[in-house]
Amino acid sequence: MSQLLIEGVTYARRNRTQPPTERLAKALTKGYPDSLAPICASCTTVNSLPVPPPEDPLIMVEAWFNEAVREAHQRHPNAMTLATVDTASRPSARMILIKELSRIEGYVTFYSHYQSRKAMELERNANAAGVLHWDKLGRQIRFEGIVVRSPEDQSDAYFATRSTNSQLNAWVSEQSRPLESIAELTRRARDKASDLGLATEPDDGEEPRSGIRVPRPPFWGGYQFWFAAVELWLEGKDRFHDRLRYERALTPIGATAFTTGPWTCQRLHP
Ligand SMILES: Cc1cc2nc3c(=O)[nH]c(=O)nc-3n(C[C@H](O)[C@H](O)[C@H](O)COP(=O)(O)O)c2cc1C
Repeated sequence: MSQLLIEGVTYARRNRTQPPTERLAKALTKGYPDSLAPICASCTTVNSLPVPPPEDPLIMVEAWFNEAVREAHQRHPNAMTLATVDTASRPSARMILIKELSRIEGYVTFYSHYQSRKAMELERNANAAGVLHWDKLGRQIRFEGIVVRSPEDQSDAYFATRSTNSQLNAWVSEQSRPLESIAELTRRARDKASDLGLATEPDDGEEPRSGIRVPRPPFWGGYQFWFAAVELWLEGKDRFHDRLRYERALTPIGATAFTTGPWTCQRLHP
């Protein structure tokens, strides 16, 4: 499985041995014509996506992620706007951080509270849309598809990599619910630490010290956002932007995975 793990600006791809920089460079150049190479920093030249388009848009998605991370123009190059809808078809959107791109299957993983507003909306309607924008690179990616919960073992594994304070905060934040004060949250975190036998000093900002493993809360974990549509957008001169829209069928197999049909692609007017 080819997966791109994203943690801040650190990437690691499983089953590969080259150092990250070489892997990134390889992913960027592999199979692309030179027309992909220019970065649209000022967009003074005509910029275009590959002609003919690659059959699999995820190759481009991965390359663009790699470049956004490498160029480090923004603190969170993996930040994506995620839009969901409620039962009355009213949309809502918020930022999330993509933590993993599964290029072969074609989904991204993010983490959240399973009783948050987004979670409630996804439970009733799993259709979602996502947008990434890298301003300095003049690139946008749009995703449309279906969001399902990650397998529990994957959520456990990711939760275990988080700092103890972050783990405690996951326990005590009732994401999207009314909160009396930040002080209440701090008190709840301290109480939770004490329940778990973790030694903490109030407000000292230090990580609680102990070898105690903080279990993952059952109400917090991963989501996989499987793509039925991907659109690549490249900023061009005088609004002659280039757009490639890809679509494919997603057929559920069980509650958490899909078989995927072949991609079809169309170039769109800007
Ligand atoms: C850059 C950025 C990254 C964020 N990443 C996440 C994330 O990965 N998961 C998450 O639950 N919330 C994340 N948030 C907070 C969400 O935008 C949002 O406030 C929160 O999830 C509650 O949304 P909801 O009430 O619609 O469920 C992030 C916010 C920003 C600005």
